[in-house]
Amino acid sequence: MFSADLIKKFKNTPTPFYYYDTALLNKTLQQATAAAKKHDIEMHYALKANANPRLLKVIQSHGAGADCVSINEVLRAIECGFPVSKIVFAGVGKSDEEISIAVNEGIFCFNSESLEEIEIIDAIAAKHHKKAQVALRINPNVNAHTHHYITTGLEENKFGINMWELEKVLDALKKCKHISLVGLHFHIGSQITDLNVFKTLCLRVNEIQQWFADRNIYVPNLNLGGGLGIDYYNPDQNAIVDFDKYFGIFRQFLKINPGQKLHTEPGRALVAQCGTLIAKALYVKKGIQSNFIILDAGMTELIRPALYQSYHKIENITSKAAETLKYDVVGPICESSDCFGKAIDLPETLRGDLFALRSAGAYGESMALDYNLRTRAKGYLAEDL
Ligand code: LLP
Repeated sequence: MFSADLIKKFKNTPTPFYYYDTALLNKTLQQATAAAKKHDIEMHYALKANANPRLLKVIQSHGAGADCVSINEVLRAIECGFPVSKIVFAGVGKSDEEISIAVNEGIFCFNSESLEEIEIIDAIAAKHHKKAQVALRINPNVNAHTHHYITTGLEENKFGINMWELEKVLDALKKCKHISLVGLHFHIGSQITDLNVFKTLCLRVNEIQQWFADRNIYVPNLNLGGGLGIDYYNPDQNAIVDFDKYFGIFRQFLKINPGQKLHTEPGRALVAQCGTLIAKALYVKKGIQSNFIILDAGMTELIRPALYQSYHKIENITSKAAETLKYDVVGPICESSDCFGKAIDLPETLRGDLFALRSAGAYGESMALDYNLRTRAKGYLAEDL
C-alpha cells in the first residue's frame, strides 16, 4: 500500500502522526457525490468522524453539506467554506448558547430530539426575531446489528423522539411560532455492514411518514442519517464502499412524497480509509505468553480498539525480516485497555520499526485525547510530506 518513497518520508516525520491520502479521499468523494447525484440525494458530511480543517476543505470542495453536533463543529464548518444553507445541527443536548449562535448564523436546520429542546429553540428564535427550521429526529426502534455503543435507533437509546411522544410534540409545535417543521430525521447506528438494515429502516420510515400523512402533515425533507460501515479487514481491496448500492436502497424502498428531498449524513464511509495512524516501535518486550510491541501511539491517538474492541489492520511497514512472530501491539498509556491487537502475526520487529494502523481516518483524530498529558498528534495530507 505505501510506496518506498512514502515510507522514506514517514521516516523523516516525527511520530506518531495521522497520514491522509488525499488522492483516495478525493476519489471516495467523487464516487459518493456521483452516486448521490444519480439518486438525487443531498449529502451532509458528519464532522464528528474527522473535523481536521484541511480535510474539511477538500470535502466541502466536492459540494457536500455538513452535519454538526456542537456549535464548534458548526463554526468550523463555516470557517472551512460549507455554506450555512447546507449545515444541519444535530445532537441530543444542545446548550442555549449553542442554539442561540446557530439561530443567528441562520443554519439550514436543527435536528431536534426532544419536546423540551423544541420549545427552547422556539423561545431563543423568538428572542432573536428569527424563525428556525427544525427536523424531528425520530427514534424508529430499528436494530442496526452493530456494536451496542454505536447503536442509536432503539427505544432504549437516548436518541430521538419516541413514537409515543409524537402526538404531544405536534401539539407543542402548533404553539411554536418561531419554528417551522421542515423534516424528519433518523439515525440508527454506525459501522453498519448489513445493508438489509437500511432496507428495514426505509420500511419503518414509510410507516412513520404514513402516520404523519394521516394527520395531514407533509414535510419537505427526509434525512436517513449516516452509518454505512467500511471494511476494516481489507482496506486496500475495499478502499471505497459501494455508495451507489447504499443510496439505491433508499431510492428503492422509501416512499418519498412528491417534491420531498432526501438527505443522508455519512461520516466514516467518506474518510476512514484515507487515514492511517503512523507510529514507531519504542520497545519490544518479552512477556510470559506473548511478546509486546510498545508503540509511541496509543488509545490517545486511536481509541476505537480500547473503547469498542474494534479491529484496525496493523502493519509493520519497515521490517525486512522474513520470519513472523506473534505479538501483542500496545500503546504507552497507563491503561491495560491501551492495546491495538493481541497475538498478531507480524514480521520480527525491532525498536524503531514503523507501524501503520489502517482505516484511522474516521474517529481517530477526532476522538484523540490528551490523557497522560500527551501531545496531540499532527495530521498530514499527502502533499505535506
Ligand atoms: N448522523 C448522526 C445523527 C450520527 O449520530 C452519526 C454518528 C453520523 C451521522 C455519522 O455516522 P457514520 O456514517 O460515521 O457511521 N465513534 C464511533 C462512531 C460513533 C458514531 C456516532 N454517530 C466509532 O468510532 O465507531
